[in-house]
Amino acid sequence: MATIKQNLARSGELEHSDSARLDIEVLLAHVLGRSRTWLYTWPEHQLAPGEQRQLDELLVRRAAGEPVAHIIGRREFWSLDLKVDASTLIPRPETELLVETALELCPREHLQVLDLGTGSGAIALALASERPGWHLLAVDKSAEALTLAEENRRALGLGNVELLQSDWFSAIPPRQFGLVVSNPPYIDAADPHLERGDVRFEPRSALVAERAGLADIERIATGCGAYLEAGGWLVVEHGWQQAAEARRIFTAAGLREVSSRDDYSGRGRLTVGRK
Ligand SMILES: C[S@@+](CC[C@H](N)C(=O)[O-])C[C@H]1O[C@@H](n2cnc3c(N)ncnc32)[C@H](O)[C@@H]1O
Repeated sequence: MATIKQNLARSGELEHSDSARLDIEVLLAHVLGRSRTWLYTWPEHQLAPGEQRQLDELLVRRAAGEPVAHIIGRREFWSLDLKVDASTLIPRPETELLVETALELCPREHLQVLDLGTGSGAIALALASERPGWHLLAVDKSAEALTLAEENRRALGLGNVELLQSDWFSAIPPRQFGLVVSNPPYIDAADPHLERGDVRFEPRSALVAERAGLADIERIATGCGAYLEAGGWLVVEHGWQQAAEARRIFTAAGLREVSSRDDYSGRGRLTVGRK
């Protein structure tokens, strides 16, 4: 039977992954029901036969490309422990920039907020946890994604989030929001990245948009006018090569104070505009 230290040295089995060491740490911690820090406190701890077998199986799945988040069924976002599954996008760390920006643009204690394409609920739940006085309406076209978002909402005990199945604005009753946020599908169907890494295991409906990935951003920017109160903000995530196009779309939709925000690698990943 192998020790923790010996198992941690198996990154060679995950050579396709650019986070092999971290992957093994997360899978091992999951199997043992311990934190990653615990692994380094007890490097000589021997795995029980059942634990070793389970870890071996999980490493085979990871070596076949399955995302770690799908294997363990969880992903941390904005310090919230979220359940994830194959119904929608695995929340990404870069989307935390959207949460940060929304909080910074809207200092109000009470606010009506709309999250379009909520998926696991990541953005809406992060905002709701930060601002108990805000009320969030989180919509998605996918019933499966909404079931997941509801499970996360309930597990986190966030009563200020309401979920609704809607194809963008179509089922949303007339209402005024001070903030509309969205991380919509924005990948071009021909993008070769769709054939690599974790995205192969995520639904196309969460990733791909027509018109070189810009169609949903445009639907959201043009549709939000009827739902935003005067002075209300629209904050949308997009691909790092789409910032100029997103600003053009926002401006054409009649939004003002339009600008893009860079991620931590200096790439424009977010565009904001105001009614
Ligand atoms: C990129 S994922 C973002 C998920 C989540 N907001 C996040 O940041 O992790 C896009 C989401 O938009 C949803 N979606 C796609 N088309 C939609 C539409 N026409 N109306 C509403 N939601 C849609 C997908 O089901 C998916 O959950």
